[in-house]
Amino acid sequence: MNITLRIEEEKDFRAVENLTREAFWNVYKPGCNEHFILHKLRSSKAFIKELDFVAELGGEIVGNIVYSKAIVVDDAGTKYEVIGFGPISVSPSCQRQGIGAKLIDHTVEIAKEMGFKAIIIFGDPSYYHRFGFKNAEIFDIHTAEGENFDPFMVKELYAGSLQGITGIFFEDGAFNVGEEELELFDRKFPTKEKKVTDTQLALHGAVTIN
Ligand SMILES: CC(C)(COP(=O)(O)OP(=O)(O)OC[C@H]1O[C@@H](n2cnc3c(N)ncnc32)[C@H](O)[C@@H]1OP(=O)(O)O)[C@@H](O)C(=O)NCCC(=O)NCCS
Repeated sequence: MNITLRIEEEKDFRAVENLTREAFWNVYKPGCNEHFILHKLRSSKAFIKELDFVAELGGEIVGNIVYSKAIVVDDAGTKYEVIGFGPISVSPSCQRQGIGAKLIDHTVEIAKEMGFKAIIIFGDPSYYHRFGFKNAEIFDIHTAEGENFDPFMVKELYAGSLQGITGIFFEDGAFNVGEEELELFDRKFPTKEKKVTDTQLALHGAVTIN
């Protein structure tokens, strides 16, 4: 399979938002909001254009990863810049063929070259531990609610990069999505049925359809 990676261009935005919607639809909740988060992130100051990559197969975009700046704030109020990736999407028909791994490995190397300290994400540990992500608790980094849980993970981009850095993790405001604005945005895409699926039940136990 001949996968090529390149920086995303403005002409790709619509197709990539649709790809994100296809990849996430009904996976974590009925419908999804990740295509809207991606859309909002693009116009955020936190968005990192140099790490916005698409994967192409036969001239068609089949994957995307984006990164944004985030912060860890310690007890003294000192802010430390970190980065996070997401959404990351691979077209459903092309998943489990190494495209996601290619996108992550490639952009992690560039993030290192750019001098960023660490990547902090929320995701499935069984997928991300293989890339060197560890539970945030190990670094004494927690959410604004003071929580830690397995999907909350950190990867140092060089040895000891987070030494002496502990505190609360804050990601960009683009990740906060209101249901109403999401509904309006989603109308710009082809109609898709919202469903409760096994993947949602495994994650949450109970799910409601908006
Ligand atoms: C998650 C995603 C980006 C991974 O990309 P991919 O190209 O399918 O993944 P790769 O081919 O690199 O890796 C495949 C491996 O990851 C595992 N994997 C893939 N998606 C996974 C997931 N959501 N949870 C756990 N494991 C997953 C597969 O079991 C496979 O493991 P194996 O190599 O041990 O068999 C892609 O599946 C996707 O777009 N999923 C829907 C959207 C999503 O969940 N995004 C991530 C949110 S944190």
